[in-house]
Amino acid sequence: MKLLVTGGAGFIGSAFVRYCLSRTDTPSEIVNLDKLTYAGNLDNLAEVAGNSGYTFVQGDICDAPLVNRLIAFHKPDAIVHFAAESHVDRSILNAEAFFETNLRGTFTLLEAARAAKLPRFIHVSTDEVYGSIPEPNDATEEYPLKTSSPYSASKAGSDLLALSYYTTHKLPVSVTRASNNYGPCQFPEKLIPLMISNAFENKPLPIYGDGMQVRDWLYVDDHCRAILAVLEKGRAGETYNVGGSRSLPNREVVQQILTITGRPESLMTTVADRPGHDRRYALSSEKIMRETGWAAEKSFEAGLAETVEWYRTHPEWIQRVKSGEYQRYYAANYSNR
Ligand code: NAD
Ligand code: TYD
Repeated sequence: MKLLVTGGAGFIGSAFVRYCLSRTDTPSEIVNLDKLTYAGNLDNLAEVAGNSGYTFVQGDICDAPLVNRLIAFHKPDAIVHFAAESHVDRSILNAEAFFETNLRGTFTLLEAARAAKLPRFIHVSTDEVYGSIPEPNDATEEYPLKTSSPYSASKAGSDLLALSYYTTHKLPVSVTRASNNYGPCQFPEKLIPLMISNAFENKPLPIYGDGMQVRDWLYVDDHCRAILAVLEKGRAGETYNVGGSRSLPNREVVQQILTITGRPESLMTTVADRPGHDRRYALSSEKIMRETGWAAEKSFEAGLAETVEWYRTHPEWIQRVKSGEYQRYYAANYSNR
């Protein structure tokens, strides 16, 4: 399969590219279109950079002539669309880029795919489109969309747009909605890598509000296998939830990070809550399991230990991404909180 991957230099996209290119059973060719925003990092792809089946193109998914040219030249069998502005707190500070990339960018790709009659389009989305899920429910794909942040609103909009291209134009789109991912190469703005890197530096670990918000944790490689399963076996026009089946309150996650890193509990610091903070995410992944045979494999304990170990052994990666831009973001989000 020849895949046009968008956002392949980010956290999940780069794991997907590495995973696809490491498969010997089904060799794939990948063209990676990524703008290299603050979240894009070619260090994540160093191990595949010389692979003959891999091409990197720096560019914007909103650039229609570029997207059309890439499709005409490479003739991909599918687009796997990861590129997005992905962090809730940044969308609270300034939502503009979220609407450009997540909505206009997705629209641009869908139009190009429709014009070229591409045989497959996977739109990678999030469980955040369902909003907060009250106990004891798990959201199925039929659960109503009820977004809380500009990020999740932009993702819900792009999901609906993508599905409309199936209903109206018969473009074979499938949407995946995954729960919170964690693993190597995640930008340290998200909970787990932020807490790990702060713990290493003996800096305060900022807990929003009471820290009892619940997230369903999914190891990034399990997510990548799920996307491939939907690409290969999923039905067009359908949405597939992808959960880790491991719901934990934030405090407990941070406590486990402190234990693994050997840092004291006193580093945990309560800060003002996130506006519009969703209390609980919980997904039913029954549909993808039933239709494709996929199941999450990594236990949270093993995945977290491996993730901490990855960050411990890649101090230069952390140092590079905690550049001037990160310092400005950190000050804007956490000072005076
Ligand atoms: P990320 O922020 O780590 O990476 C995003 C990538 O997209 C970066 O490489 C960036 O340079 C690129 N990008 C941004 N704007 C672009 C543009 N206009 N044109 C081309 N490239 C652009 O994100 P991630 O955590 O890897 O998430 C990937 C996808 O998965 C997103 O669509 C996100 O909504 C979804 N998702 C993420 C999670 C999670 O826990 N991180 C969970 C479920 C779904
Ligand atoms: P995050 O990684 O931003 O993912 P999302 O909001 O998309 O689920 O946050 C995960 C949870 O951790 C969420 O409930 C917010 C909380 N959180 C903190 O308490 N402190 C922090 O510094 C961050 C980044 C998140």
